[in-house]
Amino acid sequence: MGPTLDIGGVVIIGGGGHAKVVIESLRASGQTVAAIVDADPTPRAVLGVPVVGDDAKLAELKGRGLSKLFVAIGDNRLRQVLGRKGRDMGFSLVNAIHPSAVISPTATIGEGVAIMAGVAINADSRVGDLAIVNTGAVVDHDCVLGAACHLGPASALAGTVTMGERAFLGVGARAIPGVSIGTDTIVGAGGVVARDLPDGVLAIGVPAKIKGDRR
Ligand SMILES: CC(C)(COP(=O)(O)OP(=O)(O)OC[C@H]1O[C@@H](n2cnc3c(N)ncnc32)[C@H](O)[C@@H]1OP(=O)(O)O)[C@@H](O)C(=O)NCCC(=O)NCCS
Repeated sequence: MGPTLDIGGVVIIGGGGHAKVVIESLRASGQTVAAIVDADPTPRAVLGVPVVGDDAKLAELKGRGLSKLFVAIGDNRLRQVLGRKGRDMGFSLVNAIHPSAVISPTATIGEGVAIMAGVAINADSRVGDLAIVNTGAVVDHDCVLGAACHLGPASALAGTVTMGERAFLGVGARAIPGVSIGTDTIVGAGGVVARDLPDGVLAIGVPAKIKGDRR
């Protein structure tokens, strides 16, 4: 059976550094964290949360009455796949929103979303399911963030920017008003997106230039 678990607590997939930040955001917003499943099932604790096995353990946890799930995996595609799997198993995908984030009442936020400390999300912006808006990122008005995209720490979108599904902006990257960043496209740390970027490319620099297909 394993350890006694907090049935009202969140199950987290992933036990790495990103999971630590997620755990602290969940706790800061008054939620409890029951257990972690990780590709490395070695029994251990991450910030006091037990790693109880790998994701083969999810069905047993569901059977024991746990119903809330958060996917704390940095890889955008894998996070999306695991989110769908969790939903199909009947888990609800909770959000991890740090209380210091300032989110407009007219913004819409999907499910399974991480919004870390110090984020600002402004009027009429939309954040898709399983997105990560990392520490200190800024999303100005009327932006659309696709499912499972990731805005890195201290990155910033001016107004009316669109990010495709699974797109990624590295730490400190920025986008000027109105540009669109394609599905699965990566913008390297510190890059400035000044023109639309197509799907599936890697772009770096100021202004960001396409350097090839995403790896
Ligand atoms: C752009 C990026 C994806 C490229 O990764 P990579 O393919 O492994 O690149 P490498 O580290 O092999 O670097 C290749 C070259 O690009 C340069 N480079 C790397 N990242 C760069 C960046 N963001 N801007 C400009 N040049 C960059 C390197 O200096 C290197 O140059 P050199 O060949 O003259 O030595 C990566 O460097 C990056 O910026 N990742 C963002 C990570 C991040 O912000 N994570 C947040 C997690 S919360």
